[in-house]
Amino acid sequence: MSDRSLLIVILAAGKGTRMKSAQPKVLHKVAGRSMLGHVLALSADMGATSIAVVVGPGMDDVRSEVGLLAPDARIFEQSEQKGTGDAVLAARDSIASHNGDVLVLYADTPLTRKASLEAMRGALDEGAGVCVLGFEAADPTGYGRLLTGSDGALMAIREHKDASPEELSVSLCNSGVMGFRIDDLAGLLDRIGNDNAKGEYYLPDAVEIARGEGLHASVVTCPEDEVLGVNSRGQLATAEAIWQQRARGDAMAAGVTMVAPETVWLSYDTAFGCDVVVEPNVYFGPGVRVEDNVHIRANCYLEGFDGKSRAGLRIGRGTSVGPFARLRPGTKLGQDVHIGNFVEVKNASMEDGAKANHLTYVGDARVGPGANIGAGTIFCNYDGFSKNRVDVGAGVFIGSNSALVAPLMIGDGAYVAAGSTITSDVEGDALAIERSAQAEKPQWAAHYRIKMSGPKPG
Ligand code: UD1
Ligand code: CA
Repeated sequence: MSDRSLLIVILAAGKGTRMKSAQPKVLHKVAGRSMLGHVLALSADMGATSIAVVVGPGMDDVRSEVGLLAPDARIFEQSEQKGTGDAVLAARDSIASHNGDVLVLYADTPLTRKASLEAMRGALDEGAGVCVLGFEAADPTGYGRLLTGSDGALMAIREHKDASPEELSVSLCNSGVMGFRIDDLAGLLDRIGNDNAKGEYYLPDAVEIARGEGLHASVVTCPEDEVLGVNSRGQLATAEAIWQQRARGDAMAAGVTMVAPETVWLSYDTAFGCDVVVEPNVYFGPGVRVEDNVHIRANCYLEGFDGKSRAGLRIGRGTSVGPFARLRPGTKLGQDVHIGNFVEVKNASMEDGAKANHLTYVGDARVGPGANIGAGTIFCNYDGFSKNRVDVGAGVFIGSNSALVAPLMIGDGAYVAAGSTITSDVEGDALAIERSAQAEKPQWAAHYRIKMSGPKPG
């Protein structure tokens, strides 16, 4: 691969009015990460030496997303949307000081693969001054058409609105992704005019200008679904569906069994070990790591990051989860842990061999190795003001329907009798029991039945 340095310019100025959203378009999410985040990750994956992001006026939240995900990226503002050529020139400072390849990506196009961009850099390596990522469009309406010569070289790009009927019959279209290897790229882009149907400065016009200077222009193609641009919520859902299908395929190829893959939802960073089984209807939010031989039964909701916490979720080797379990940020499950139906775990570690098989809430806790949490146990971690922790030692047995009121420590090997509300620490190997003594009245029930079935008073 090329050893020239690489500048990636990401256009993110579009407001996305058709999204009908208070949020800028490029912050809408695909697989749990903003579309801009996907393009920034791809840029890093390409080994970009510098990244320039072009935003519109007042897009402070887009600036913060860039600051968070790519702190070294430079941010430029395009004050008025005068076309893609003008947008790239907003990053003039980065372009003029850069010596090497330049790739232009759109932040609303989150599905482009690294292999396609590498093929474009390959074309630049082979001597092209300009390279365009093209695709065969099922419906080319609205796209720029790639006009090629008999030798396959790219002659020009014609926007739909400016195209002749003959040019409109071309189905090879411009994805918008363009690559350049031109010494004075800014100087060349300065020569793009706006004498066209839209009165805009078209970046694709760089092709004809470059050819006029004797540079070679070429096309690299990719499948249409890699260059889907998102302009509406419908297209956002289409992008999500394509992403999910790819990610499920990748997970299965890496050794995950999915009984009904089309019902499993993954996030951009879901990480699986080998021989994991995922039953139908499981949702993986961001920040989840699943180790080897884990079995996730149907209808589970698992997330390592949410709006409040980025503590992550780890499910250890050989562990079984669900059906109908909810695992939240900060949960660490060791090896061979059992989490059964209607169990919720948050910010808690359950060490090797621990079990919570039915109807339980474990929050802000440590559950030691081999401990057994009985059905209906609630860890009372919140007093209305702050969260407190419960520590359950190794091999502890918590009887069903117990309430463990934090802060609390239960020593190794202790027993808690069913139905107890435990508010004070319990020593190791002790029995803690908190409930009224059982009273028994012999024959009471038999007498009661006779009384009730006799003649009614009055
Ligand atoms: C553009 C291409 C077209 C290609 C299509 C692929 C041009 C002139 N045409 O058309 O050949 O087939 O993409 O989807 O480039 N943007 C700015 N500032 C601007 C204008 C645009 O940042 O002043 C951004 C937009 O937010 C958007 C992207 O550039 O993300 C593309 O702009 P848009 O106006 O949507 O171009 P298209 O008409 O789709
Ligand atoms: Ca009680």
